[in-house]
Formats: sequence, C-alpha cells, structure tokens
Amino acid sequence: MKTRILFTFAFIGFLSLAFLTSCGGGKTADKQASDSTNVAAAGTPSAEQMAMGKSIFETKCKVCHQATGLGLPPVWPPLAGSDYLLSDKKRAVAQALNGSNKDITVNGVVFKGLMPPQVSTHDSAVAVINYVLNNFGNKGGYISVGEVKDVVIEPRK
Ligand code: HEC
Repeated sequence: MKTRILFTFAFIGFLSLAFLTSCGGGKTADKQASDSTNVAAAGTPSAEQMAMGKSIFETKCKVCHQATGLGLPPVWPPLAGSDYLLSDKKRAVAQALNGSNKDITVNGVVFKGLMPPQVSTHDSAVAVINYVLNNFGNKGGYISVGEVKDVVIEPRK
C-alpha cells in the first residue's frame, strides 16, 4: 500500500516535470491544448488526446475538409484516403501549424488553394493529425509530440 502511494507521488512528480519542461519557448498555448493529454513517446495516444483532436477537427478543419474528410475537390483536398497525408505524418503536423499555399497533389489531383495556419502548439497539431490519421477510414498510425519538436512554428502573417 505504502509503495503504491509513493509510486503515485513519483508519477505526479514526473508528470508535472514533463509539463514544466515542455512549456518553454514562449509559445501561445491553444485553449484546447494541455501537455498532460499527450503520450510522452511514440505509441498509442491517450483517449484525451484523441478527444482533443476530434474537437479541433470539428471547430477548425471540418469547414473545409468536411465532416466526411472527403473535402470538396477541386478546392478543398480530402483527408480521407489522402496519399499525401498518409505518406508523411510530420509534414502533416507542419501543415496544421503553418498551413500552405502551394501546389499539393492528393491522389493525383493538384490543389492550389490557401490553407491558413490552424493551431499554434505542437500538442494541438499532433492531436488533430492523430485524429485525422485514424478517422474517415484512415489507418495512418500515430505520431508523438516528441517526434515533431523541431517543426518550426512560422510567425503569423
Ligand atoms: C480554409 C479552409 C481550410 C481549413 C480550415 C483547413 N484546411 Fe487543410 N487544406 C486546405 C487547402 C486549400 C489545402 C491545400 C493547400 C495548398 O495547396 O497549399 C489543404 C491541405 C491540407 C493537407 C494536405 C493535403 C491533404 O489533403 O492531405 C492536410 C493534411 C490538411 N490540409 C489538414 C488540415 C487540418 C488537420 C486542418 C484543421 C486543423 C485543416 N487542414 C484546416 C484548406 C483548409
């Protein structure tokens, strides 16, 4: 019993340490973001992270990529079955953070639209990308916050 209590305290200590160390850098925190909802290393994300991803998708991405994830070609590209999304998880995280305005080929169709930046923390970007990688029929695996630490958040124009 005593060991259990000790373990609990050690675990809480570890969590708060992880939280404190990952808060540096003066980033603006998204309202939905919370570091404690993310897994520390590669692996299956927590239910909390997936719920956060779903809520970000619904408030931010759905308007263009649609509730079905099918988008509205030729303007909004699909996330469902997207070879572009599924082939590079880290690039997808950067896409959610910084958006893009270039030619992107998805399943053979060229999209040229503008996607504005959507989220402002790595936590939020990873949560929403893990969500879209595993919905709309996608089985795209997962990415962890640790794997995208070096993705630069571009200054907002
Ligand atoms: C205003 C509409 C809009 C919103 C909102 C939006 N996107 Fe996009 N998205 C686009 C457009 C347009 C492109 C293509 C951009 C280009 O050609 O540079 C794109 C491209 C993408 C791509 C790469 C192409 C593909 O289909 O695989 C991903 C991944 C993506 N968006 C994910 C997201 C996620 C996740 C969100 C929400 C956090 C989001 N988008 C919000 C319009 C939007």
